[in-house]
Amino acid sequence: MKKRILTGDRPTGKLHLGHFVGSLSERVKLQHKYEEFILIADIQALTTNFNNPENLRQDIIEVTMDYLSCGIDPEVVTICVQSMIPELSELTMYFSMFTTVASLRRNPTTKAEAEEKRYGQNIMHGFLGYPVSQAADIAIFRAHLVPVGEDQLPIIEQTREIVRKFNNLYGSVLIEPKALIGEVGRLIGIDGQTKMSKSLGNAIYLSDSSSVVERKVRGMFTDPTKIHLGDKGHPDNCPVHIYAAIFNDDRGVVEETREACLTGKLGCVTCKKKLAVALNKFLEPIREERKKYEGCPEFITEILLRGTKKGRDEAGKTMKHVRKAMKIDYFRQ
Ligand code: TRP
Repeated sequence: MKKRILTGDRPTGKLHLGHFVGSLSERVKLQHKYEEFILIADIQALTTNFNNPENLRQDIIEVTMDYLSCGIDPEVVTICVQSMIPELSELTMYFSMFTTVASLRRNPTTKAEAEEKRYGQNIMHGFLGYPVSQAADIAIFRAHLVPVGEDQLPIIEQTREIVRKFNNLYGSVLIEPKALIGEVGRLIGIDGQTKMSKSLGNAIYLSDSSSVVERKVRGMFTDPTKIHLGDKGHPDNCPVHIYAAIFNDDRGVVEETREACLTGKLGCVTCKKKLAVALNKFLEPIREERKKYEGCPEFITEILLRGTKKGRDEAGKTMKHVRKAMKIDYFRQ
């Protein structure tokens, strides 16, 4: 039997290059080797969007189109919507009985995000607790492997702790999952900040048009010590070179430009032009594929309904074992 993968995204907008290298490319690579489930985590998106839920519907569709245009095959991968699987909320609640608030406050992923959002003492229960909900996402699907970006590692670690605790308390029912980090665990932002992220406003989206890509690349942060054409650069710390090394399939050009930057022969403008061409070459087939789906939201909703039904069946099976192990399966058939 194939081992199982579960992974997910919050539907807070279109997906970007950071999503692609962190997790999406792994999902595409592994879709035939594993039984793969992808969860569109709309409840998790509500932790920061409870006051503007009206965008979720469209964003769920956008994210699904991004999956398909990158090569996720809906015939082999099951794509589900989190809020349409109520069993997830049930398991979250059971997990929250034995997960301490202290362990949630310590989680580096949510801690960093809470600081970025300046929640302070006004942090919401749902936000603080979303690692518990994510643990339920992973556990309910009995997943062995979770392809995620590096920033998610502490959440997967907490999932492992929660699963261990559950199994110690009630018997070995749940699978302790492992994280799988892609070749590039974290992608630097176009502004040079450590991480590409929608909320930091430093992303190139998979569906950006070629002119938008050109504009964003032109404005990219480069080595601040390289001001004039003749100045020697530090390509290994420069986002333009970092992106070229990942997305330009012409290794020769990448090496040549790196050398030319190091010796000061190449200016950043030329380098950026080459990157824009390479990125557009990489994105063009994704954009082309996306066009097929843009006019037919019914096709997308049909995939989501079918996937969610299958996901819910799987969740239901796990919950039977969970309730039985917890001895709370009373009065059920
Ligand atoms: N926290 C993930 C993110 O922000 C999304 C997510 C929700 C997820 N549930 C998951 C990822 C389960 C992996 C497994 O990108």
